[in-house]
Amino acid sequence: MSSPSKSKPAPLAPDTQVGGYRIVRRLASGGFGVVYLALSPDGQRVAIKEYLPASLVERAPGESAPVVPPDKLALYRLGLKSFFEEGRSLAQISHPSVVSVLNFFRENETVYMVMNYLDGASLQEFVITARELKRKKIFRESTIRSLYDDILQGLRVVHQHKMLHLDIKPANIFITDDNKPILIDFGAAREVLNQQDKRFRPMYTPGFAAPEMYKREGAFGPWTDIYAVGACIYASMTGYPPYEATQRMDKDRLPAQLSKLRGVYSDNLIEIVEWCMALDAMARPQSVFNLQRELGAEDARRYTNLTLSEKLRLHIDELVNDTKSQVKKVRDVTRFGAVVQNSPQPGRDDPFPRERN
Ligand SMILES: Nc1ncnc2c1ncn2[C@@H]1O[C@H](COP(=O)(O)OP(=O)(O)O)[C@@H](O)[C@H]1O
Ligand SMILES: [Mg+2]
Repeated sequence: MSSPSKSKPAPLAPDTQVGGYRIVRRLASGGFGVVYLALSPDGQRVAIKEYLPASLVERAPGESAPVVPPDKLALYRLGLKSFFEEGRSLAQISHPSVVSVLNFFRENETVYMVMNYLDGASLQEFVITARELKRKKIFRESTIRSLYDDILQGLRVVHQHKMLHLDIKPANIFITDDNKPILIDFGAAREVLNQQDKRFRPMYTPGFAAPEMYKREGAFGPWTDIYAVGACIYASMTGYPPYEATQRMDKDRLPAQLSKLRGVYSDNLIEIVEWCMALDAMARPQSVFNLQRELGAEDARRYTNLTLSEKLRLHIDELVNDTKSQVKKVRDVTRFGAVVQNSPQPGRDDPFPRERN
């Protein structure tokens, strides 16, 4: 048995058989598991997600069952239960904008979820590629509107099933080769509209997580996913994630950043982002339907350029803010010895860091 080191559990080797499927190769590994490309008995390509939380289990190369140290068993089982829940909930939903679950089963003392294999890339990869081209716009407004219209149709069905996604971000929106967006990774989704089990407070992703996700007693609802959709639209306009909600509560730079988009995108689209990303949950669209109506509105697409004096004021505002944030950073570092532990190191672990300005 391997020593209790920090090394990641090994993925299943190519050609391993599991539940009648043959593993072809690993596609990705995250904190909670591994996603494989595999072949079904009739030769169809599928994506299989294996529950394998890196912080709780060990697995040596060539082994199939993970080894769970006794002190981590309770947590492992709790996670297993919610992973199973993810599969069960998703299996009830059939919508072209939501990844299809074909099967899920237990084997090797863990759980596997079989999904339709998608050819394409995540929206995050598209955003990063587009921003490297250094154009004024990341995506055209019409592209953004139709992309999010498709996503919202899927999200509406998710909400109708009394589920919330709770981790909507460009990395969890897959764009297929025939240009269809598909919501993936419902790992954080729970039947939270009915009951809120405090043990399952989901993990949050800086920039995309609504302010209530940081609060112990935060009331989640469709508005929580809607905040994340607003943040995704923002990233699709600017190429970068917005400031984290906790930072915004301290000093909100979003209005200034959105002003910079005036004249580039319509006033209406900018207002939609501002509406979705209101810090006060009750000030956001309360349902996907509300938002769809506004996003689909073809009228009133006005473009108002900034006046020279507005541009100057923005510039001065930024200079002041930058000085303040430099000072604050130095203070935070000296006070805590290090900057926030959970956030990924910009540019190192995090492939999609926030813009530095
Ligand atoms: N159905 C699928 N088809 C193809 N690739 C997939 C599929 N599901 C996930 N992937 C790939 O695996 C990655 C991680 O999947 P995801 O469900 O987001 O899990 P997590 O982020 O928890 O590791 C995705 O970014 C994508 O590249
Ligand atoms: Mg993901």
